[in-house]
Amino acid sequence: MEPITLSTGRLLLRPFDARDTESVHAACQDPEIPRWIPVPDPYTRDDAEEFVLNASPAGWRDDTTYNFGVFTREGALVGSMGLVRIAHLRTAERQAELGFWTAKEQRGKGYTVEAGRAVIDWAFAGLGVERLEWIATAGNHASRAVAIRLGFVMEGVQRARIVHRGTRRDAWTGALLPSDWGRTGGTPYLAAP
Ligand SMILES: CC(C)(COP(=O)(O)OP(=O)(O)OC[C@H]1O[C@@H](n2cnc3c(N)ncnc32)[C@H](O)[C@@H]1OP(=O)(O)O)[C@@H](O)C(=O)NCCC(=O)NCCS
Repeated sequence: MEPITLSTGRLLLRPFDARDTESVHAACQDPEIPRWIPVPDPYTRDDAEEFVLNASPAGWRDDTTYNFGVFTREGALVGSMGLVRIAHLRTAERQAELGFWTAKEQRGKGYTVEAGRAVIDWAFAGLGVERLEWIATAGNHASRAVAIRLGFVMEGVQRARIVHRGTRRDAWTGALLPSDWGRTGGTPYLAAP
């Protein structure tokens, strides 16, 4: 699909492009990002260029990942927020996964949650997502705090779910349903009695 932009009180979410190479490269020098996210490590300027010029636009074009660069109103990079693993977005399952990272100097300001809300609103209202998943390596407390603040209901641990840098890791998982956000409609849901 054609990339879109979203805005919130403090933030602009737009597709990454060439002007973001330096700021993405700088943000991904923080070891917390390769620690939890499958980005190259070490993360070079070429990696940043490949991400903003090729991988991120290809995700929109091929309907594999809808990734937004998140920016302050002044234009500073906050991070990345998007829908990943969307293979079942347009099947009857209507599922996607929320994925994000935030630059170290922008953390702790509520920006991640604010950007997450905008993407979730769009996923439910614009794309008809009926189950949005959150999956993080077990032990990622910061990510879990964001997911909980967004309303995700924790669903437990999936053993050895994630392969990260040559080892299998357990995953914490959660899901957010439109009904958790007070939305009605969609495929009727018969929850476990
Ligand atoms: C996870 C991450 C995006 C959180 O970003 P953030 O900007 O700090 O998040 P916010 O400011 O929106 O805060 C959201 C909540 O998380 C809490 N939080 C943030 N870091 C935390 C931590 N290390 N431990 C516990 N809670 C934490 C905040 O206190 C806040 O909770 P509150 O609203 O109840 O006060 C950031 O730490 C990051 O980029 N980490 C590396 C990449 C990563 O792990 N991505 C997720 C992969 S699944």
